[in-house]
Amino acid sequence: MKWVVHFSGEHPSLPRAELEAVLEGESIRADVEYAGRLAIADTDTDDPSFLGRLAYALKCYEWLGEGPSLDSLAGPVYDAISDAESFRVSGPSAVQERLGGLLHGFGLKVDLKSPQAEVAVYERGGGYLAAAALPVARGYEGRRAQYRPFFRPTSMHPKLARALVNLARTGSGDTVLDPFCGTGGILIEAGLMGMGAVGWDVDPNMVEGCVQNLGEYGLSGEISVADALMGEGRFDAIATDPPYGRASRASEEASGLYRKFAARARGLLDGGAYMCLMLPHDRRLDAEGFGVCGVFDVRMHRSLTRRIWVLKAI
Ligand SMILES: C[S@@+](CC[C@H](N)C(=O)[O-])C[C@H]1O[C@@H](n2cnc3c(N)ncnc32)[C@H](O)[C@@H]1O
Repeated sequence: MKWVVHFSGEHPSLPRAELEAVLEGESIRADVEYAGRLAIADTDTDDPSFLGRLAYALKCYEWLGEGPSLDSLAGPVYDAISDAESFRVSGPSAVQERLGGLLHGFGLKVDLKSPQAEVAVYERGGGYLAAAALPVARGYEGRRAQYRPFFRPTSMHPKLARALVNLARTGSGDTVLDPFCGTGGILIEAGLMGMGAVGWDVDPNMVEGCVQNLGEYGLSGEISVADALMGEGRFDAIATDPPYGRASRASEEASGLYRKFAARARGLLDGGAYMCLMLPHDRRLDAEGFGVCGVFDVRMHRSLTRRIWVLKAI
């Protein structure tokens, strides 16, 4: 089936990379076409749940049809939404009027406030694309770190945390390791997407707080006091934001910590698995045994940029 994603436009390349990573992580075969802030994904699945994972999607839709005129689209759109008690068309006002009028003429009831079906129309290539909105529960703002029982200023915004998990090509059912888990921001997003969560932190307070925060969302994981440079195991993916300054208990300079952890991390993953890290933007990362698949600079605020590294174990 075909799906349409309307990206939020917050970043020039991250939203596309995230979509492609989720498709790969969920083993969905797809041809994806991009048009400005839209992605049209022709997939081998009729299950839209993968779309609910996307941090950088503003809206997601089921593709209904494309045509040179609104009149040519009215039939396929009607067939798709005829069971709905009411509908609304979103798009340029002339489009809303014309397509809304045609569908109303077929006997459908307009409801601008809370329609059962919402049809979005985009102008594309001299014609129109029509798509039916899917209910997507985002809820990032309500999940912000300050609303959790255990908060530290180092906690990551849920949207970014989710993007890290997604860029690591995770599939539901995978086990994700955050070796510097802190308050659990990344593991909460992994858990909410149906993944197993393993977290390590050298600080016992963080470990306790992480367990508490996961519990707040009905989640649990294997969270333990451990040094990321010593921890052992085999995981499907790693997603993490290590300490940025001289924050390590081991009094490591951050760059030394990153290098040592990268060397250690290869043994925690099978070949072909991914690790996604967020670091200060000016740090080099020498990660032997990994290939770099993506680098994204993300502006946190005016004077602070972080760099996301997507690495694949080779
Ligand atoms: C930037 S914070 C992680 C924030 C986390 N993503 C969150 O949402 O709260 C980095 C964490 O790494 C932990 N840490 C520092 N050195 C470590 C080490 N060698 N092994 C494991 N954890 C370490 C710190 O205690 C801190 O909680």
